[in-house]
Amino acid sequence: PDATPIRHFLELRDLDAATLRGIVDLAMNVKAMQRGRTRPLHPARPLEGRTLGLLLSKPSTRTRLSFEVGMRQLGGSVSVMQPGEMQIGRGESLADTARVLSRFLDAVVVRSGDAEQVAELARWSTIPIINGLTPRSHPVQILADIMTFEEHRGPIAGRRIAWVGDGNNVATSWIETAARFGFTIALATPADMAPDPQAVAWARSEGATVELTQDSRAAVRDADCVVTDTWVSMSDQASDARLKTLAPYSVTSDLMNAADPRALFMHCLPAHVGEEVSEDVFEGPQSVVFDEAENRLHAQKGLLLWALGGPGWRRFGVEP
Ligand code: CP
Ligand code: NVA
Repeated sequence: PDATPIRHFLELRDLDAATLRGIVDLAMNVKAMQRGRTRPLHPARPLEGRTLGLLLSKPSTRTRLSFEVGMRQLGGSVSVMQPGEMQIGRGESLADTARVLSRFLDAVVVRSGDAEQVAELARWSTIPIINGLTPRSHPVQILADIMTFEEHRGPIAGRRIAWVGDGNNVATSWIETAARFGFTIALATPADMAPDPQAVAWARSEGATVELTQDSRAAVRDADCVVTDTWVSMSDQASDARLKTLAPYSVTSDLMNAADPRALFMHCLPAHVGEEVSEDVFEGPQSVVFDEAENRLHAQKGLLLWALGGPGWRRFGVEP
């Protein structure tokens, strides 16, 4: 059997700190190269002849576009698949689907309403499977978030990041990243929307400081960045009760004033301005949400170069 491990990107906890650091550094380098600030990428089309599949069973703007555009900018091509239009929709198994996709494609990004489906595809696939969001986690988002923080504020190690609102999939991926990048994460959520206890226990066992509270002011005190997300994720049922429970967790300018004066505001988008964040914060000078959205593109390119670039993947970020 081929002993080379397949470079799946399923959960942040599966990757070591040096690899994640390398992907973010590579993302920053390819961004600088694209902006003409350094010599161009060499070779200019490193993924020429490769095809990325996107298997999306939930809506997406940023994830789809960042992988599609990023793959094309690296010289590769893309095939977008909707499960409802595939034989999966008529009952073909994920095991067979994964083995067929592996014969056509070089990697697949999967967005699914069931984390187990992504794991099942990865079990059978002989090409990298990239988690493009599940109800459990959203690891590709956090690569762009780390990159965005560091562009504005320097190294994230030792900093304090506050998460305010629903302890959802994006929160879980932030918690796992804290263990890998060495920052403190303080999460303020309603008691019945606390983050995944397994992720919290895992991150703490890896030495991360994870603070849990129901008090958003306590979480944001001295924070270098305040992060929130929608109150109704794609896997949630919207209800008035849910919105009422989350109402005290809105990120307002009053809450931002309780953080470090230089704190950034981040949100993975799509946002519901007036719910989880007030308009003055979302549109204000501390908000870096559109840099964060743009950095999805550069982060995805770093990730694709890691997944498909072979043992020498780091060389793409180095000037020839
Ligand atoms: N942030 C994010 O993943 O956005 P999309 O749902 O538009 O992909
Ligand atoms: N938590 C949100 C993120 C969307 C990118 C969701 O799962 O719908």
